[in-house]
Amino acid sequence: MTETTRFYDDFQPQHYDIFLDINRSTKKITGTTTITGMAKTPKIKLHQKNLDIDSIEANHQAVNFKVNDAIEAVELELAAGQQTIAIKYSAPLTDTMMGIYPSYYQVDGVKKQLIGTQFETTAARQAFPGVDEPEAKATFSLAIKFDEQPGETIIANMPENRVENGIHYFDETKQMSTYLVAFAFGDLQKAETTTKSGVKIGVYSTKAHQPKELDFALDIAKSSIEFFEDFYETPYPLPHSWQLALPDFSAGAMENWGLVTYREAYLLIDPDNTSLRTKLQVATVIAHELAHQWFGDLVTMKWWDDLWLNESFANMMEYVAVDALKPDWQTWELFQTAEVPASLQRDAIDGVQAVHVQVEDPAEIDSIFDGAIVYAKGARMLVMVRSLIGDEALRAGLKKYFSAHKFNNATGKDLWAALADASGLDVGEIMNSWLEQPGYPVVKANVVNGDLILTQQQFFIGEGKDAGRLWQIPLNSNYSVVPKIMSEKEINLGNYNKLRTEFGVPFRLNIGNNSHFIVKYDQQLLDDILKDVKQLDSISKLQILQDLRLLAEGQQISYAEIVPLLPQFSSSKSNIVSTALYRVMTQLKQFVKPETSEETSFKALMDQMSAEQVKRLGWQAKVNESIDDQLMRPSVLNASLYAKNPQTISKAHKLYLEHQNQLTELPASVRSFVLINEMENYGSPELFQRFFKAYQETSDAGFKSDLEAAITMTDNPDLIKEIITKFKDPDIIKPQDLRGWYRNVLANPKGEQAAWDWLRTNWQWLSDTVGGDMEFTTYITVTAMVLKTRQRFEEFSEFFNPKLNTPGLTREINMDTRLIEARVKLIEAEEKAVNKAINQIIN
Ligand code: BES
Ligand code: ZN
Repeated sequence: MTETTRFYDDFQPQHYDIFLDINRSTKKITGTTTITGMAKTPKIKLHQKNLDIDSIEANHQAVNFKVNDAIEAVELELAAGQQTIAIKYSAPLTDTMMGIYPSYYQVDGVKKQLIGTQFETTAARQAFPGVDEPEAKATFSLAIKFDEQPGETIIANMPENRVENGIHYFDETKQMSTYLVAFAFGDLQKAETTTKSGVKIGVYSTKAHQPKELDFALDIAKSSIEFFEDFYETPYPLPHSWQLALPDFSAGAMENWGLVTYREAYLLIDPDNTSLRTKLQVATVIAHELAHQWFGDLVTMKWWDDLWLNESFANMMEYVAVDALKPDWQTWELFQTAEVPASLQRDAIDGVQAVHVQVEDPAEIDSIFDGAIVYAKGARMLVMVRSLIGDEALRAGLKKYFSAHKFNNATGKDLWAALADASGLDVGEIMNSWLEQPGYPVVKANVVNGDLILTQQQFFIGEGKDAGRLWQIPLNSNYSVVPKIMSEKEINLGNYNKLRTEFGVPFRLNIGNNSHFIVKYDQQLLDDILKDVKQLDSISKLQILQDLRLLAEGQQISYAEIVPLLPQFSSSKSNIVSTALYRVMTQLKQFVKPETSEETSFKALMDQMSAEQVKRLGWQAKVNESIDDQLMRPSVLNASLYAKNPQTISKAHKLYLEHQNQLTELPASVRSFVLINEMENYGSPELFQRFFKAYQETSDAGFKSDLEAAITMTDNPDLIKEIITKFKDPDIIKPQDLRGWYRNVLANPKGEQAAWDWLRTNWQWLSDTVGGDMEFTTYITVTAMVLKTRQRFEEFSEFFNPKLNTPGLTREINMDTRLIEARVKLIEAEEKAVNKAINQIIN
């Protein structure tokens, strides 16, 4: 696409009357959209995509129009000035999970359809013509007719106010962006409650679920809205907040104003058998979307380049909110084990985007939703802001920001201005170095000629061009003489021995791990820290493992140096320490060739690391056990099963046998491992078929993903082939779940070749079916996470290089090529030393 003009400059809509007639059996939509607005020039453009336009009238006069599909527009000529433009059109109802689309599901073997919408980023134009840009806020009145069956329900952003001649009319919305318009209809069930302030809260799902599955979400949604009204000191501006689970959903969830949509897995929970990890995940997803009701919906970014304003903020607020709602769940620890490593890993690859990034082309807009950057790094950046200015100034600043920009748009500058105003600190100045520049620094701490010297330099995993970038780094040292912010390339802190005596503890930076940088201590400083690992707090332990691992990934130190340190961390009762430890172990796996004596040694090490914890925790949750124990159990058992520990294997088998007639009743936190164990150690074609059948029959998303994990672990080549033949059958594997299946088969050494062949052979099909989907690029991302040999690197380059110029794919292909190459080189360089180090520490 070439033209990058914004249509809003020429035509400013004020109100849309949208009438849609939707027929599920003919898969056809007919519509009339009437837009009142101000034409600044006689030649204006409206967005449309795949709309078949019958006629356009402006102020009741037929006008000439020209469809220009290349820019997803219809161009018209009319008189400048106030206009009422009426467009009659029709459109197909397609299975793309974009625009207006059907979700498919079954109740008691009967196939059913639910219609829903997904408009962010640029799919509203597939449902109605208009100016589909976030800045073009207007009010919307929806009127919808459909092939209605008795008992069906229709919901939208606003309440329904009447039904006439089978047409459902909804209240006019507030001023809002097109991408947030939503509606849905079908045979729905509902749970409802009201907040203290009188906002109606509802959770909706299909009737394939038990009513009790809606309760957890209802509770979290209600308390989240109450929390945000209080935290933002700004009322929720709509009469209701509906949460709807859609059986087919491309992303995780979507913050449509007043009608939030979710993947079923991220909303519905069996209250009687769900792991804490899953509850935490569902709660954070709901809190994220509800944070957007203000940040994103009430105040919206002016253009997509400031997407971070929406997503970084909502990503931080999910933790702030859930931590407040469930204080004993240790929510911020999840931030440390999920967001932090994701951002540090991806942001170290040259070619990564900055959090703030220019975009124009719709295909590129979707590709900037990089979970590790716009979400994780952006959230971490805001966590830095929060710890610099404190919660009170943050809240005061936000309140101002909302009241200045409500029902309107804002840019990053506006947020910084509000926060600077409230805190007296020029946060924009500090934060711009994080916002505008890709990557992050490693701070090296060295004792040189007796002086403690800090230097900053961009950190890379793989090839990277040093552009001399500098960041304003909140250092958070435990030595009070260290400046709060380091903006220089190098600082000299003076005589080290003097400092060491004065402060009496080993020198540390980034206490709390809340600044986006890693530290490379010289040997003397590191030894000082490591000489008493036991007395370090959990975050510090996690941080040591994290920084050493990254330094090894970047080949600044050797993995072989890390191996001997590991046993000191294995008996920790902290979940974040054990998560960091197993992450290192997973990385070590890449140096070990399957079915060799190296693998035997590595498994012995894995057993050594996990044995004591397995004994302590067992398979069954204990009454009143700690949150850490609940969260750690799965990773510990997983390690033990990987190590082929015979007792663990037989315990898992026993659990399977006890529950084989009611597999859903296996304790949810360990269910996937029990099923995987069965497939790996007691597998048969019959078991495979049994799991596949259960997969198709269940409507429980958690159970489904456990079964998928087990099925994809088969080592039988015929069964792997069978799995792959089902990839393109949406009745068996839903398109929303295909990437997960593909990734798991690829990650199975016995399935790698077949999955990789499948991807290459079916790329065109994939591009045709999910090419317009925001998740498309992640097929490349997950592939690059697995491939690790030189041959695969060459195959990957050969296949993807010719696709480098595909809009939206360029950055991903470049980064992933670099990533695989870095991994191949790392393995070649370190394989011997790492395996030797492993052999030296096993008992
Ligand atoms: N606004 C996004 C959904 C979205 C993502 C729309 C990409 C269009 C393109 C939503 O708020 C979101 O961030 N969803 C996340 C889940 C969230 C809890 C992290 C997602 O879908 O991954
Ligand atoms: Zn979001």
